[in-house]
Amino acid sequence: MATSSLLLIASCIISVLLQAASASKTRHFKWEVGYIYASPDCNEKILMGINGQFPGPTIRAKAGDTIHVELKNTLHTEGVVIHWHGIRQLGTPWADGTASISQCAIDPEETFVYRFRVEKAGTYFYHGHYGMQRAAGLYGSLIVDAADGEAEPFRYDGEFNLLLSDWYHQSIYDQTVGLSSKPFRWIGEPQVNNALATYRRNPPPVIRVLGIETTKSKLKKIVGPHKQQAVRYRDSPINQKRLWGPLSWFWLSPPTEQLTSPFLRQEEPIAYRTHQTPPASSTLLINGRGQYNCSLAAHLIEGSNACESTSKDCAPVVLRVLPNKTYRLRIASTTSLSSLNLAIGVSKPSLANHKMVVVEADGNHVEPFMVDDIDIYSGESYSVLLTTDQNPSSNYWLSIGVRGRKPKTSPALAIVNYRPNSPSKLPESSPPIAPEWNDYNHSKSFSYRILARRGAPKPPQRADRRIVLLNTQNKIDGYTKWSINNISLALPPTPYLGSMRYRLKNAFDAGTPPENFPSSYDVMRPPTNPNSTQSSNAYVIRFNSTVDVILQNANALAVNVSEIHPWHLHGHDFWVLGYGDGRFDEKDVARFNLKNPPLRNTVVIFPYGWTAIRFVADNPGVWAFHCHIEPHLHMGMGVIFAEGVEHVGKIPKEALLCGMTGKMLMDNHLP
Ligand code: C2O
Ligand code: CU
Repeated sequence: MATSSLLLIASCIISVLLQAASASKTRHFKWEVGYIYASPDCNEKILMGINGQFPGPTIRAKAGDTIHVELKNTLHTEGVVIHWHGIRQLGTPWADGTASISQCAIDPEETFVYRFRVEKAGTYFYHGHYGMQRAAGLYGSLIVDAADGEAEPFRYDGEFNLLLSDWYHQSIYDQTVGLSSKPFRWIGEPQVNNALATYRRNPPPVIRVLGIETTKSKLKKIVGPHKQQAVRYRDSPINQKRLWGPLSWFWLSPPTEQLTSPFLRQEEPIAYRTHQTPPASSTLLINGRGQYNCSLAAHLIEGSNACESTSKDCAPVVLRVLPNKTYRLRIASTTSLSSLNLAIGVSKPSLANHKMVVVEADGNHVEPFMVDDIDIYSGESYSVLLTTDQNPSSNYWLSIGVRGRKPKTSPALAIVNYRPNSPSKLPESSPPIAPEWNDYNHSKSFSYRILARRGAPKPPQRADRRIVLLNTQNKIDGYTKWSINNISLALPPTPYLGSMRYRLKNAFDAGTPPENFPSSYDVMRPPTNPNSTQSSNAYVIRFNSTVDVILQNANALAVNVSEIHPWHLHGHDFWVLGYGDGRFDEKDVARFNLKNPPLRNTVVIFPYGWTAIRFVADNPGVWAFHCHIEPHLHMGMGVIFAEGVEHVGKIPKEALLCGMTGKMLMDNHLP
């Protein structure tokens, strides 16, 4: 090649670089976090808002930009922090927003400045990371567009942002105390019990099956294809079953164990339908809006209450689209508990749903693949491309339902409004039918299809270290906990970043947590000895080394129960090398996908299964790796990774004003 053309290319590259450099900006935000009144599901409560808004304001930036958030705590009696989920914080570990890990909580009336770069285009979000503040409503979206002159490898005509969450009527203080009490009180219970009390006062007057009024003698016949579900209930302790058929919502039998009514003594399998939609333990929200105990599709779902509230806080989300266009839906889940499934219906329930093409996962491009519905776990984000190719004379439901737990929560609905139809024209067909909550094969086949887009960064071919993390539910002095290799995480009063950086003694428990668990442990059965211990010890990882983590699921305390746990890593993306059922075995290494494993920051472990990930410890700092289910983290389900702490720059003193670092600052001992 001639020198002149090389020069030309070089100067082009330089000018592009200069342009990119000059285009990247610092984006300033001034926020105040405080409790506000809001009615996210048509019931007024208090929640944590930002500048009076819920969810908090959306941050929109371009790759390469610097985000500068001046966060003032206007809560009256407690500290606060905000974590920028999915942002690596390369070089700014003190801005990760994790109380007890990266910084001291910001005291009431104090201000902390979060300043960090967003490197990569994608769909992210932010949320509180102190106690259970995320569940109190402290969250919002963070969307990073490609830098000027760059493009993402897919095209679309418009986009929508859907931030999904679940909302409890109990305060997080109620929830926190319940989870930390003996006997343990699970967060789902109180709201269900309230609904139950009402239910007890007004038992359903008619026996109906699939919407048809019936008598006991006729019942068996009508039950027909649903017989299995209907019959099961008779003597089962938890006789609550839901059918979501094309016709209606049903509760087969009164919803619960404590109910001492004649219903439990019925000789025949009977399906009852309540006057209300099922008692909810929480409400699913789309962009902070949902409907509690009523349905937008009440005219299609016989027996459900129509939503009457006129509060705009809980008005349905409407996606206004034009026919035959392609839209990017950005979907992120910041639920406290629920695993979700999202689908968009069509005109006849017998037909498949609107197709979606998955193109992004956690800010990384994936090899596009087409689906009818997507699963999304807490901490994950996706972009899907939706083509509006259905009959343009109607509108359609976008529905979000619960996975992995017998749902006590009704689906959340949004309306896909094909213009020029009126947005208030309700879809004529029922919402899409969700896969059964426990159809794990459906969930697995979705997860297994997620692969890196061609040209994406590949993992190192070998790891320097392997850490196997057994996930178990345990007891400590009678309190229910989650443990990792038999250690339940208890965060220390002095944040690790400061105490490690300044080598303070006794700031957290010494010693390295175990790298594995006993080979005699049976992951398919409840623990033979459920006792475990609490600790704040951390895994210290050699800077720039490559680490494999095998997340091993197991049976929880109850027989035949193993739960889904979405694990989220701070400070890094990791490659998902593989999944398996049962106990991980050395021979599974041969099956690792080193060719095109997807990069992510959150990955699920399925019941009784394992998931293998690999990451490079190239980000000096102290990072949490934990289950993203808020109550599980509260109960100790996490570990701490520390790497290259000696390379951490100057930590702003506002991050250090508590515990032992606070004391040293007062004594002027810190550099
Ligand atoms: Cu979004 Cu440590 O979490
Ligand atoms: Cu969990």
